[in-house]
Amino acid sequence: MDFKNWFETKVKVIDEYLEEIIEVKDNPQSVIYEAMNYSLLSGGKRLRPVLLLAAYELFKEDYAEALPFAGAMEMIHTYSLIHDDLPAMDDDDYRRGKITNHKKFGEAMAILAGDGLLNKAFEIALEAVDSKTKVRALNIIAESSGTEGMIGGQLVDMEGWRKISSLEDLKYMYSLKTGAIIKSSIVAGAILGGAREEEIKALENYAKKIGIAFQIKDDILDLTGNEEKLGKAIGSDTLNNKITYLTFKNIEESKNDVERLTEEGIESLRIFGEKSFYLVELAKYLTKREN
Ligand code: IPE
Ligand code: IPE
Ligand code: MG
Ligand code: MG
Ligand code: MG
Repeated sequence: MDFKNWFETKVKVIDEYLEEIIEVKDNPQSVIYEAMNYSLLSGGKRLRPVLLLAAYELFKEDYAEALPFAGAMEMIHTYSLIHDDLPAMDDDDYRRGKITNHKKFGEAMAILAGDGLLNKAFEIALEAVDSKTKVRALNIIAESSGTEGMIGGQLVDMEGWRKISSLEDLKYMYSLKTGAIIKSSIVAGAILGGAREEEIKALENYAKKIGIAFQIKDDILDLTGNEEKLGKAIGSDTLNNKITYLTFKNIEESKNDVERLTEEGIESLRIFGEKSFYLVELAKYLTKREN
């Protein structure tokens, strides 16, 4: 199967899975389910769940047992986007081609819908936990989304001018706010598939590189992207006076760094030989993405 086909098939599997997750109950809090689904089922690249399934498939074929963990990753990611767009954070009006959650449902609802998605993510993954291996995978996912992972990175991002004075500081922030859950998706997928420690290490190296490259590309798109294709407003970082990769390097240098990091990431996959085809192509696709 070619890469494009493979990617689309995976996205379809994930979308179908997610559609069934949040049951709209007929009770006084029913509107929260609508708000959760509004953001969860509104597209997005589904990168993190696809990465989890791709890493799993390096070791095992039938990915059904990995799906709840893949779904959980997308729910954690979606919650982080809802909160990231709030007026107290990036104050953005558009996301995934639609008005943001708080613009549609109000701030209180957006906060609660994000919280709801986070809880539901752990609920569905926990239901699937029946072995030490799965406990380990879930533990890694939990850590990566917390204060030593995504939340920690978001905090450093919000306090940018006080906390970031070098490219090294910035990369630290990227490795947390964006890199942490990209890495845990890949590592959790590998663990669930039964990878050996040296294989997990190799995938971790790949994940670290593409995680940073992904956020640099996101920064570039914030300046040069096409709003319609991107599904979110461009110029948000400039408007918010954010410290980004472009604070330290120009666009050409930044693009080169995305390429270089991606090549370095792909290099780590060498031990897998032919089997890593889709992960290699996925990394390349991310450098060319327009959304
Ligand atoms: C956006 O993530 C937030 C970042 C970590 C840069 P994505 O670019 O993966 O957003 P979706 O899921 O496709 O909407
Ligand atoms: C957000 O980074 C990262 C997380 C949501 C954890 P950005 O703030 O750059 O993401 P976008 O550009 O709004 O998607
Ligand atoms: Mg942000
Ligand atoms: Mg943002
Ligand atoms: Mg951005």
